Amino acid sequence: MKVIQLQDDFGINHLQLAEKPKPSASTGEVLVKLEAVSLNYVDLLVVKGLLNPNLSLPYIPVADGAGVVEQVGEGVTAFQVGDSVVTTFIPDWFDGKPTAHATDYITRQGLGVVSGQLAEYKCFTTNQLIHSPTNLSALEASTLPIATAWNALQYANLQAGETVLLHGTGGVSIFALQFAKAQGAKVIITSSSNDKLKRAQQLGADFSIDYKTTSDWEAVVRQVTDGNGADVVVETVGGKNFQRSLNAVRIGGHISVVGLLDGFEARIDILSLLHQQVTIRGMEVGSKADFEAMNRAIVARHIHPAIDAKFTLEQARAAFEYLEQSQHFGKIVITF
Ligand SMILES: NC(=O)c1ccc[n+]([C@@H]2O[C@H](COP(=O)([O-])OP(=O)(O)OC[C@H]3O[C@@H](n4cnc5c(N)ncnc54)[C@H](OP(=O)(O)O)[C@@H]3O)[C@@H](O)[C@H]2O)c1
Repeated sequence: MKVIQLQDDFGINHLQLAEKPKPSASTGEVLVKLEAVSLNYVDLLVVKGLLNPNLSLPYIPVADGAGVVEQVGEGVTAFQVGDSVVTTFIPDWFDGKPTAHATDYITRQGLGVVSGQLAEYKCFTTNQLIHSPTNLSALEASTLPIATAWNALQYANLQAGETVLLHGTGGVSIFALQFAKAQGAKVIITSSSNDKLKRAQQLGADFSIDYKTTSDWEAVVRQVTDGNGADVVVETVGGKNFQRSLNAVRIGGHISVVGLLDGFEARIDILSLLHQQVTIRGMEVGSKADFEAMNRAIVARHIHPAIDAKFTLEQARAAFEYLEQSQHFGKIVITF
């Protein structure tokens, strides 16, 4: 079978096609014919060696994938041959509050310890898989595991008629746009590209702001929310953006901190945090129960992920370059 792996060094240029023997399911395992993977920003950090510089090579990256069960090992009852499945990102967090044990980093697929999904076939333990939403193709389902957007809105208790602020048009923000609109909320979205803002409007965005040309976009957010600010902010950027999100959220509002596109550190004015009485919640994907709830909503609301670009396995480097250059709107997938 074909795999794409970081051969002997980090970097997109070191992603190489290789041949490996097709695996077979042992007791308690499920063999899946993977049909698609989707790329996340974290995959880029892995490939560049920025997330885990000590991972041992060769290594098969990419956290999220979907496919069809081809064989079930002895003792497996949760899955059957032919089932459409998608991978889980925090496989031991089943429900309830996160614990250190349930969210142990070493269990994450594609982040440097457990291998990722850029392989035609892979054996999984049953906690590493979930059934795909019935209305989605494998291509679409592969975009779901790290789609923290669902939880970013759920944990903020977003209500119909409230306003959510989304930064940029990457995977998380566009999922958040789709979920927020399905819940009857208003969406303010920012982007560096007018073309992407138009696409966001087509998906239902109510207000759009070019963050490159609008120096005080916080003021615009206040203006379009009757001076109040957004009820919920999905903070995908971090860094200097974090304080700006605090300036743009309403008193008593909620910031779901999801990402760090502008860096791992942020300085904030504590006084503005006190004055705004904001709830700040860090997010890490979610539990299996959260994933299932999101999937039920996807089926019930007929939501289809916004897939911007498709690449083949042989074009894996080009897919990562596309991600690195932030050319995408929504998700990038690689099909097998
Ligand atoms: N905590 C979690 O569970 C979790 C889950 C998923 C992702 N994440 C993190 O969340 C972040 C976003 O993930 P993603 O998958 O959506 O990434 P992505 O698809 O790579 O998003 C890239 C887009 O973000 C926008 N952006 C970049 N810098 C910006 C800025 N200064 N202001 C506003 N927008 C900016 C750009 O949009 P435009 O091109 O429109 O300008 C860019 O195209 C990443 O840091 C990722 O690691 C965390």
